[in-house]
Amino acid sequence: MGNPLIDGDVANLLYMVASVLFIMGIKGLTHPRTAVRGNLLGSCGMLIAVLATILKETSLDLPMIGAGVAIGALIGAVTALRVQMTSMPQLVAIFNGFGGIASALVAASAFYLAIQKESVSLQESIATVASAFIGALTFTGSLVAFVKLLELKIFWKVKSAFWGQKYFNLLLFIGCLWACFHVVDNPADPMGYWLLCLGAALLGFTLVSPIGGADMPVVIALLNSYSGLAATATGFVFSNNVLIVAGSLVGASGVILTTIMCKAMNRSLTNVIFGTMGPSADGPSADDVYAGKVKESSADEVAMLFDGAQRVVIVPGYGMAVAQAQHVVRDLATELEERDILVEFAVHPVAGRMPGHMNVLLAEADIDYDKLIEMDLINPTFETVDVALVIGANDVVNPVARTDPSSPIAGMPILDVDKARTVVVVKRSLSPGFAGIPNPLFAADNTYMLFGDAKKAMIELVGVLKKY
Ligand code: TAP
Repeated sequence: MGNPLIDGDVANLLYMVASVLFIMGIKGLTHPRTAVRGNLLGSCGMLIAVLATILKETSLDLPMIGAGVAIGALIGAVTALRVQMTSMPQLVAIFNGFGGIASALVAASAFYLAIQKESVSLQESIATVASAFIGALTFTGSLVAFVKLLELKIFWKVKSAFWGQKYFNLLLFIGCLWACFHVVDNPADPMGYWLLCLGAALLGFTLVSPIGGADMPVVIALLNSYSGLAATATGFVFSNNVLIVAGSLVGASGVILTTIMCKAMNRSLTNVIFGTMGPSADGPSADDVYAGKVKESSADEVAMLFDGAQRVVIVPGYGMAVAQAQHVVRDLATELEERDILVEFAVHPVAGRMPGHMNVLLAEADIDYDKLIEMDLINPTFETVDVALVIGANDVVNPVARTDPSSPIAGMPILDVDKARTVVVVKRSLSPGFAGIPNPLFAADNTYMLFGDAKKAMIELVGVLKKY
């Protein structure tokens, strides 16, 4: 054991620099223009934190740490380069899960070492049980969310198969609390620790499994916050300041995001935390909603609708992301603007599959940020919109959210495109969106369906407009 390369004070100073960089990084992420810089600042903060930790320790197995960093960096880089924007929520879900379990395991190893030395402090034991409880719950909850987002439907059945799940969750929660007290009281008994992990892992599974598709984004944000809290608890096990700060930042920003999303979807945070589903019922079938009422249109007809239009609102959704149609949508907007038409983009907070999904795609296509209008601002003005062009969006423009209190999306604020003079919906078929329910907008008198892949349909439409 040699001397550390830096002492505790220098390490704490570096931790403070890292923490400031984390905060500046998060601030940068609040706007598409500064998001890349924000990411970079956060990464630099993490590099400083890791280096400071290595330099202040004397008994680290550096080759082992180097191998871990190399393998982790390789997996992270390959995944980040290959992942589709539309699969980002799955990636976030699985990363949350790994973060949670890593925190629980690191805390466990420190706890074991402390037990061997027969010097477990109260802070260590309380922080360890907190880390085990939150970390294990986050791990299994995130795995369930990951599988659900992959749309492997096996897990969807759990919600109807399990009667009395809420009471089971409550009992499990009480059991976990009991195990927490037991471990704090008898730190030398490892069995209690592993029972706590098992109980929390089961609770993560039973809490997330009944949550329906439409509520899944909120769950991901909440699990993100839990993974931060698990890291904070682990920070207290080691008395490591930067882990406490970084974990708290993730925990707090996750809670803020969860609250914003709950508001955007009109869900109560308590219901999400305790795994209660949004309302659901066997609503009308697609046949009831669509039969004989859907009007199919063509690129030529839609181009004619723009004749005499003064205001067009484009509503992007998940389908635009799948088709990667954002660039050609920008070409369409430019084409319309050259005809003196006011073009705006109405962005729903949960359009797509992750927070800010549409904003990122539109920014990628160099669409001016000022043209993106938030839901609350644009909704009262839809009556004056000549053409609302819905591109691959479905749930976020489904009027049943306003009209049917038993629908799975009941109460979710939607973009009121149905109030526009004319609506054009671009999608490949009458298939439902993420929430799995039919959309009466497609059968409305003022709606025309332009069936096809969003990118191909937009290329055709721009081609027709250019000919005029
Ligand atoms: P959705 O309701 O999921 O609808 C997307 C529509 O896009 C589908 O109906 C699909 O119809 C169409 N589509 C798919 N591929 C297409 C393509 N290549 N070209 C044209 N259309 C295509 O999307 P939304 O309106 O954006 O709503 C988002 C939903 O996802 C909400 O329910 C929300 O709760 C949920 N969600 C959101 C998030 C966040 S945070 N944004 C995260 C997870 C889940 P066709 O198959 O007929 O083409």
